[in-house]
Amino acid sequence: GRDLLSLSDLSVDELLELLTFAAELKAGKHHPQFPQKVLGLLFRKASTRTRVSFSVAMYQLGGQVLDLHSGVTQVSRGEPTSDTARVLDRYLDVVAIRTFDQAEIQEFADYASIPVINALTDLEHPCQILADLLTIQEEFGALQGLTLTYLGDGNNVAHSLLLGCAMVGMNVHIAGPEGYAPDPAIVKQANQLMQGNGHVLITTDPEAAVKDAQVLYTDVWASMGQESEAGQRLPVFQPYQVNDALLEKASPEAIVLHCLPAHRGEEITHEVMEGAASRVWDQAENRMHAQKALLASVLE
Ligand code: CP
Repeated sequence: GRDLLSLSDLSVDELLELLTFAAELKAGKHHPQFPQKVLGLLFRKASTRTRVSFSVAMYQLGGQVLDLHSGVTQVSRGEPTSDTARVLDRYLDVVAIRTFDQAEIQEFADYASIPVINALTDLEHPCQILADLLTIQEEFGALQGLTLTYLGDGNNVAHSLLLGCAMVGMNVHIAGPEGYAPDPAIVKQANQLMQGNGHVLITTDPEAAVKDAQVLYTDVWASMGQESEAGQRLPVFQPYQVNDALLEKASPEAIVLHCLPAHRGEEITHEVMEGAASRVWDQAENRMHAQKALLASVLE
């Protein structure tokens, strides 16, 4: 029911309603309050945006937050997920989990009746894409028919972008080196969600991918857990760097998004990060508004 393990757990209507609700919250139109409610943040990985934006969103909703980084729980000493889930279920009202394996968050949800939110796994990053779509909607007024080009690794962010853009009728182009394409099962799912409205393009050609795009999106080339692969990844990803030359080949009104943290000089240049097309700070702020809408909707 109220879990968000994958972006595709939402119906298209639910996704669009969340974006509208988030925009209204940002504009100060609603002040839903959930005093006594407690959000747990069960994180196995570092986080700045997700952890802080969830915390501030919950405080602004009148609730409380518990930072349950794995190091301060028995999770780090091997307590089974099924046991942790059944215990935390009795204390918390909602939990956001950041971990490696999607199966772990699925198992937690199987054993807990409280809403479980995916705060990033190796497969997906649904909360990020709520903020991304909100940012694109703010810029262009509508989402349907726009083209987003993602450059880089076909990772969790690429997966959730594929699903989210497909659900709102946007075209998605993914450009990355041979061997780093997104999961074919997610590409297939995105194609099915599009129902003929829009298209998915998976290519190794960055210039073809950015042509006519209104949104260029990039992410780190070696994610958390892949640091040891950085040496082999950096040279093959170089042609996919978002720089002024590539941005010039996109639509003239194109904006640039990055989920952050950014590695200037790798996936994006300093000039583009700080340039007129960059919306990365609004995008980061929108994490808070989008997740506030999500929390309010699952706590209702
Ligand atoms: N974009 C994102 O999820 O940032 P954090 O890893 O800092 O939460």
